[in-house]
Amino acid sequence: MGTDIKSKNWVSGMTEQNKKDLSFDEFDEVHNNRNVTIEFDDVVDRALSRRGFLGGALAMSTASFILGAGAFGSSKAQAATNRFGFTPVEATTADTITLPEGYSWHPVATWGEPIFSDVPEFDHVTRGTAATQARAFGDNNDGMALFSKDGRHILAVNNEYTNRDILWEGGVPADADAILKGKNAHGISVVEIAQNDGKWSIVKDSEFNFRITPDTEMEITGPARGHDLLKTAADQTGTKSLGTWNNCGNGRTPWGTYLTCEENFNGYFSSSDKELELDPALKRYGINHDDWGYGWAQIDERFDVAKHPNEPNRAGYVVEIDPMDPTATPKKRSALGRFKHENAELVVADNGHVVVYLGDDERGEFLYRFVSEGKYDPNGDNSNLLENGKLYVAKFHDDLSGEWLELTPETTGMASQAEISIHTRQAASAVGATTMDRPEWVASNPNKAEVYCCLTNNKNRGVKPNAGGDPTPVNGPNPREANKYGQIVRWAPEGGDHTATGFGWNLFVLAGNPTVHEGPKAGSANVNAGNIFNSPDGLSFDSRGFLWIQTDGSYSNADDFAGMGNNQMLVGDTETGDIFRFMVGPKECEVTGATWSEDKKTMFVGIQHPGEKGDSVFPGGEGTLPRSCVIAITKDDGGLMG
Ligand code: FEO
Ligand code: CA
Ligand code: CA
Ligand code: CA
Repeated sequence: MGTDIKSKNWVSGMTEQNKKDLSFDEFDEVHNNRNVTIEFDDVVDRALSRRGFLGGALAMSTASFILGAGAFGSSKAQAATNRFGFTPVEATTADTITLPEGYSWHPVATWGEPIFSDVPEFDHVTRGTAATQARAFGDNNDGMALFSKDGRHILAVNNEYTNRDILWEGGVPADADAILKGKNAHGISVVEIAQNDGKWSIVKDSEFNFRITPDTEMEITGPARGHDLLKTAADQTGTKSLGTWNNCGNGRTPWGTYLTCEENFNGYFSSSDKELELDPALKRYGINHDDWGYGWAQIDERFDVAKHPNEPNRAGYVVEIDPMDPTATPKKRSALGRFKHENAELVVADNGHVVVYLGDDERGEFLYRFVSEGKYDPNGDNSNLLENGKLYVAKFHDDLSGEWLELTPETTGMASQAEISIHTRQAASAVGATTMDRPEWVASNPNKAEVYCCLTNNKNRGVKPNAGGDPTPVNGPNPREANKYGQIVRWAPEGGDHTATGFGWNLFVLAGNPTVHEGPKAGSANVNAGNIFNSPDGLSFDSRGFLWIQTDGSYSNADDFAGMGNNQMLVGDTETGDIFRFMVGPKECEVTGATWSEDKKTMFVGIQHPGEKGDSVFPGGEGTLPRSCVIAITKDDGGLMG
């Protein structure tokens, strides 16, 4: 099958060069053209009506809820005070990690690095085999969490996808083993790490080391369990699933489990029948006749929707994993809905219910909240708390209030809670939820009842509807048409109760470029020439309440993005609204994922897809392939990092 696969153009109508020029989400857009234009006058009217909002003063004076006195104003009104105490770094296009003086970094775990000693070291020529990849650290690390117990430190890391141009010489797989190698580079890597002479590294052969791949058996729990839409040839009971892939952001629970979130699961399915009429429900999730170049259907029939139309319904969930037990069966939590999950930010509300905030990262999709039926018991068994509960979707009003709309058969007109758990996007459309500018990570302040979400960008805002046909006019939290830069919205639950129906909201920052634009594209007042960035994506609070912002945007450093350099990580002070650039990543990378050591003296940060277009040798240097990796950042004086 080798030569067939090699010559195949995986995506109809696109040249190899086209594909290389597209970002991951642009690829989905081209691949799933859902173009329907809406009335231009309507767009302009709404955009104009937002001007008052963007001025800031109106927003704050009429706010039902005001977060931090300085939002939208402090940086320009007075010198920013950096409570973190570092000198911010300049934007740069250097092919390395750039940190403030007094901080150092080192790689901890790198794509292809063996986690068992019977696997050879990564081979920069062959790039490994399916067998070596299955026992090595996966590719494109994204969300992660460090679990510490009895002096052992277990790092669970998502391996979101693979850089096909790097994984396969020439960008196309030579044979079935090469396709399987790509498949095995997906999933989760769980590794014990230890610190020696100040440097963290993988403990090879630890009994805690294991990989989860797209073939690992999992159990489906919650309302969708056993539903007809989940029954497939591989599991006629609708209660099991094979594997997880495109695991983007993550979450963690106070009972010690890891939550991994299935995002662009659609890009792995294809149809052997190119004339196949695709079910609208599959199309809503971006399933199409061609995959995105991974070729999995060539080696695994499950990924052929002409033969197994229900297979895609077994993906798109949050999966709960016990990172301390390689033998435990991971559980897909259908109660948390099915969509392109970014991360899962879990908060225990004061009344004991577990609340999980969830974003669906696609243009014009929605923001969700799960509230558990049971209550968290610090001394009890919490292992099934995520099995049952209520699922809500956010509706933002322009007066800075908002509400959570519950998704039930009554509110949505859908047949059952099971169906809502599988066709969650359709349920949210049915209740008229607010279309958002691609919700990425959600982060909850550990010291205050307030929650933040990155809305990374949305070139379709005010231009065309979402994949379900819902119009996407500019609206309160998404105030700019054809939004190139993104923003961070924040909300406070009514009465400080995360299970309350109502909330108040405002924008923490509108990213922009004040060096090339005036007006809305310049961004909010807390954006200035010294901290410009675009496309906020990763978002994590440290234990002190500082907000770490990671970017996944344009690194062209030109035109609209002039002066922004490579993707970067900044720290936000949510009390003052000030934002400072802490780190710049290497060329063509995205910065994603953050977790801290037990003593808070190390911050672990993900560097994903350096050199995705060919221009990086990070982290190995001259003559090596660029490789995604987890890095550790420490303070040279041994001070705290989080
Ligand atoms: Fe995998 Fe939405 O980022
Ligand atoms: Ca992301
Ligand atoms: Ca992103
Ligand atoms: Ca990514």
